[in-house]
Amino acid sequence: MTSPTLHEIPSEQAPMALLLEADPSTALIAGYLQDGHCVVARQSDVTVGAYVIKALAANTWELMNIAVAPELQGQGIGALLLHHAIDQARQLGAKRLELGTGSFGHQLTFYQRAGFRVVAVEPDYFLQHYPEPLFENGLQHRDRLRLALEL
Ligand SMILES: CC(C)(COP(=O)(O)OP(=O)(O)OC[C@H]1O[C@@H](n2cnc3c(N)ncnc32)[C@H](O)[C@@H]1OP(=O)(O)O)[C@@H](O)C(=O)NCCC(=O)NCCS
Repeated sequence: MTSPTLHEIPSEQAPMALLLEADPSTALIAGYLQDGHCVVARQSDVTVGAYVIKALAANTWELMNIAVAPELQGQGIGALLLHHAIDQARQLGAKRLELGTGSFGHQLTFYQRAGFRVVAVEPDYFLQHYPEPLFENGLQHRDRLRLALEL
């Protein structure tokens, strides 16, 4: 299998099925795609991963979504996308890249390995912003952590 290549694409071509792996709300995804930058990873012409970043303020960008096809996770594609997102944000003038994520799970290791630090907790975020309960590893997501990386 060849290494994936990364490509920025117009938001209307964003791979919704993949983005839903990271965020189960079509409405929220559609919202941040409007003013976000979407980059996909392609392997042998197949889209295998994606991320979306958008500006929050002049110097601060947010990683809104990052996802890899379930059958290809754990092979480094996520790390490739994450480091590309960090570089892109820096090139777009960001001094800080933020993200929100659940308070448990392998995603926390994934982000902290890239240097992100926990900067805040948003209690009950997933209860208030999603109509259906979100479960992972048999545990319900309730609180969201804010993570940030100084660039
Ligand atoms: C988070 C995600 C993008 C990481 O992508 P990936 O291609 O699997 O990442 P990598 O292969 O670069 O793995 C990085 C590390 O993440 C961890 N990891 C990734 N997938 C994992 C899984 N399914 N279970 C446990 N750990 C996992 C591993 O610790 C891995 O470290 P290692 O190198 O020591 O094995 C991917 O798991 C994913 O798409 N998950 C579903 C969507 C999601 O949760 N997005 C983030 C929302 S906050």
